Amino acid sequence: MTCPPSQLPLWKTLHDHQASINDIKLCDLFAQDTQRFSRFSRQACGFLFDFSKNHLTDETLDLLLDFAREVQLPDKINAMFQGDAINHTESRAAFHVALRAPRTAALHVENHNVSDDIHAVLAKMQQFSDKVRTGSWRGHTGKPIENIVNIGIGGSDLGPAMVTRALRAYHHPRLHAHYVSNVDVTHLTEITRELDPETTLFIIASKTFTTQETLLNAYSARDWLLSHFKEDETAIAQHFVALSTNTEKVCEFGINPDNMFEFWDWVGGRYSVWSAVGLSVMIMIGAEQFQQFLAGAHQIDEHFRNTEFSENIPVLMGLISVWYSSFHHAPSHAILPYDFALEQFPAYLQQLIMESLGKSVTESGAFVDYLTCPIIWGATGNNGQHAFYQLLHQGTQRVPCDVLVAVEGQYPDPQHQTALLSNALAQAHVFMMGRDAQQTADTLRQQGLSDAEVERLTPHRTFRGNQPSNTLIYQKLSPKVMGQLIALYEHKTFVQSVCWGVNPFDQWGVELGKQVASSLLPALNDEAAPASLDQSTAGLLSYIQQHLSKEMSNSKVDAV
Ligand code: F6P
Repeated sequence: MTCPPSQLPLWKTLHDHQASINDIKLCDLFAQDTQRFSRFSRQACGFLFDFSKNHLTDETLDLLLDFAREVQLPDKINAMFQGDAINHTESRAAFHVALRAPRTAALHVENHNVSDDIHAVLAKMQQFSDKVRTGSWRGHTGKPIENIVNIGIGGSDLGPAMVTRALRAYHHPRLHAHYVSNVDVTHLTEITRELDPETTLFIIASKTFTTQETLLNAYSARDWLLSHFKEDETAIAQHFVALSTNTEKVCEFGINPDNMFEFWDWVGGRYSVWSAVGLSVMIMIGAEQFQQFLAGAHQIDEHFRNTEFSENIPVLMGLISVWYSSFHHAPSHAILPYDFALEQFPAYLQQLIMESLGKSVTESGAFVDYLTCPIIWGATGNNGQHAFYQLLHQGTQRVPCDVLVAVEGQYPDPQHQTALLSNALAQAHVFMMGRDAQQTADTLRQQGLSDAEVERLTPHRTFRGNQPSNTLIYQKLSPKVMGQLIALYEHKTFVQSVCWGVNPFDQWGVELGKQVASSLLPALNDEAAPASLDQSTAGLLSYIQQHLSKEMSNSKVDAV
């Protein structure tokens, strides 16, 4: 497509349709249709997806489904599953679906069969993780590994960290996993000070092996380890492994290529947890469960690829998001898991969705004239209720929400679980129904308040309701369900990208900041500042330079 999708006649139809239904309240949509829940919910792959509490009608759904066909979503899905170079600004495939396909699948990137490569690395990961788990992989002094520290950032951190945390109930009892990402040495220091170098394994995860934060942390971890082993560099072999596409840089760091687990340029960073980047997950939950994680994602891939759009959960999720961003101008979208194991899922989705869709030009370079990616935010629902839900209930913005619900928790406890479930259902109900002024006044009167008090308090205690939400229910978070959930959101994101005509697989926006940070670094090390700094940055730099040197001279005094 050469023009933004907003030039299509259907875009205007959707726009006019939105205006025509904007004033209909969600509760009225239910009042008019006793079958609304069953008509606007779907069951597939062990999920119930209820999208009935949204500002949409049959006509909306038909228009959105037509729109998906108009922007050639079927062809785009095929192109992704064929390994075509759909990431056109980097001239490469985005073939993460290959990483979770069965061994027998024919998977080609530029006529090269990648299936053998994928399964060779998976076998190597399995061998290694088995050794760590059984204790046959030993540290330099012969002790089994007890702590693994994944050093990476962005996609080389968020995916494995989130999944490892979510699947804590499946962890090997002897092993503990830690994730260091921030270049602030506080992160590394506060983790390593609890660890014994003799039983610690560092996993350096970096697709490029050039990322400043990761390399700095990796070199500091190396110093920490070698200072314990009296600078005996032979210790590195038992305590450092690498996950990367860049063998040369891994060797330069001093890691033997035998201890490197490879992946490929067609695996995007935020789509890499399925690749060698998932090594820490595999070590913690075991290869068999990791296979389940991959199998779950593959099941959703098949659902996405083969299911009619009107029954296709990620397609529906994506279209509904487009509906809110571009036609209702909703600036954000909240992720609310009622499943404590998913506490890092909102942060994970921030990268997946905002790094993918935070774009403002179409594939042909034209600026869009519509709102694209919403700001993704959220927290576990029950905690959020006591923090930011006030805004959802009585604020001024329309915030579409995803309420994620596990019927069973990770640890059986009917009392806690039913309390959690009642909260999930109650909140989604109140988002929609609210409580109008009449009901509020009646309640206050029943409580014995005077008419004057009722009048004064009613506006403060009225809930407008009408806040839209999806509810996604699954039985219990297992490795398989974790894989399914991530794949659902990956494909949802893909659907949005096609509707908006943007490339979801590049992230040029991240690059400029990295370059400028490198150009400023010399100035913070007492060298000349770049000539072309704006006045504010120059002023801030000068302030920091003065205070940095003061702190440094203080620490010299302290040292003396
Ligand atoms: O944040 C930008 C980014 O390029 C991400 O896409 C990527 O996941 C992250 O940096 C880390 O990159 P690398 O794995 O190459 O260290």
